[in-house]
Amino acid sequence: MHGCVRAPGDKSVSHRALMFGALALGETNVSGLLEGEDVLATAAALRALGAVVDHVGTGLWRIRGFGVGGGREPDDVLNLGNSGTSARLLSGILASHPFTSFMTGDASLRSRPMQRVIEPLSRMGAHFQGREGGRMPLAVIGTDEMVPIEYRLPVASAQVKSAILLAGLNTAGETTVIEPEATRDHTERMLRHFGAEVRVSPAEGGGKRIMVVGWPELKARDIVVPGDPSSAAFAVVAAVIRPGSDVIVENVGVNPLRAGLYQTLREMGADIAFDNPREVGGEPVADLRVKGGGLKGIEVPADRAPTMIDEYPILAVAASCAEGTTRMLGLAELRAKESDRLSSVAAGLAANGVRHEMGADTLTVHGTGGAPEGGGLVKTHLDHRIAMSFLVLGLAAREPVAVDDGSPIDTSFPGFAALMNGLGAKIEPA
Ligand code: S3P
Repeated sequence: MHGCVRAPGDKSVSHRALMFGALALGETNVSGLLEGEDVLATAAALRALGAVVDHVGTGLWRIRGFGVGGGREPDDVLNLGNSGTSARLLSGILASHPFTSFMTGDASLRSRPMQRVIEPLSRMGAHFQGREGGRMPLAVIGTDEMVPIEYRLPVASAQVKSAILLAGLNTAGETTVIEPEATRDHTERMLRHFGAEVRVSPAEGGGKRIMVVGWPELKARDIVVPGDPSSAAFAVVAAVIRPGSDVIVENVGVNPLRAGLYQTLREMGADIAFDNPREVGGEPVADLRVKGGGLKGIEVPADRAPTMIDEYPILAVAASCAEGTTRMLGLAELRAKESDRLSSVAAGLAANGVRHEMGADTLTVHGTGGAPEGGGLVKTHLDHRIAMSFLVLGLAAREPVAVDDGSPIDTSFPGFAALMNGLGAKIEPA
């Protein structure tokens, strides 16, 4: 793998840029927006709520917001496709508006837990009607008389934190989230950028207290979206597992709450340099220079999981090619992703002859120290990261690897195959 590529826009930041633009008064211009299906689902939902969201050029979007609490009742069901971030974050916005709205999604999203946002938002005063376990389709019966709460997150989830903070915007007084384990802080950073008052302090007994003051006047602000470390990960690992590779991935967000994979790969012996460190849109960014070879198995501690929660499938691929055993701990949340990612990864490894053991919340991968067998057909289960991870495994495997459905890749990484092929991969329709 050789060459220089640019990481696509960060998915988490792109969703938030559109949402905060919609909640602000005035015109917000966004550049570098990820134009993947998940983010487009958020754009469509915000239009249904009354925001003007215009595509003005590649990665360039203009939003004319309706202001905090100023959304109108959508006249149809909001279909959020595959996007958990759209569903969870929008529920915070919808819950704090005095109308009823309806959300649904594809088979993957309809099977994902929504109770984690229903619970705190119900305490604030909204009502919900969903399928068993609060699953979608879901009716959100909102109110503009929300009461502020102090809520301790039972799962380490930036989506749940963000849903509560978004609801807190249209709630009188101070809404507080306590997170025992730090999760990505894009919401807090961007809320401040738009002029909200957000206070973060140490929580008693560890973790952080994050408080937002209700009814701020959010003012339109321009946003530059950095590249997505979760997407860059596929090119980085492809280079790392092919000895002799030399790849640069430009414009990668390296927020410490997102960069756990890079720390882990370096601990495994990978040669990854963070060149030209700088700030883009209030987020730390660097160009990653990656050289192939030299990976060794390690133990990845449970407390690192929130900083690399989306990266375990691709880490498992790196581990398959490493010398020795890699043990990953604290993976329970992987079962609540676009698929039961722990099982999907284990099945993909099995299909390609990689020895491994899966526990309730652990994965142990016995590396081949070189080329895994490959030759498997991997079931994607509507999960983009499973599709991309196992295509990357195919780059190092002795036999080609196939995935049964490549279409989910467009949710987060349109142009994935072309970008990888430009570096020397051969990813093509089977
Ligand atoms: C995200 C948070 C994470 C992550 C998801 C994006 C976000 O989910 O897996 O891809 O943008 O806040 P959880 O908050 O459920 O861990």
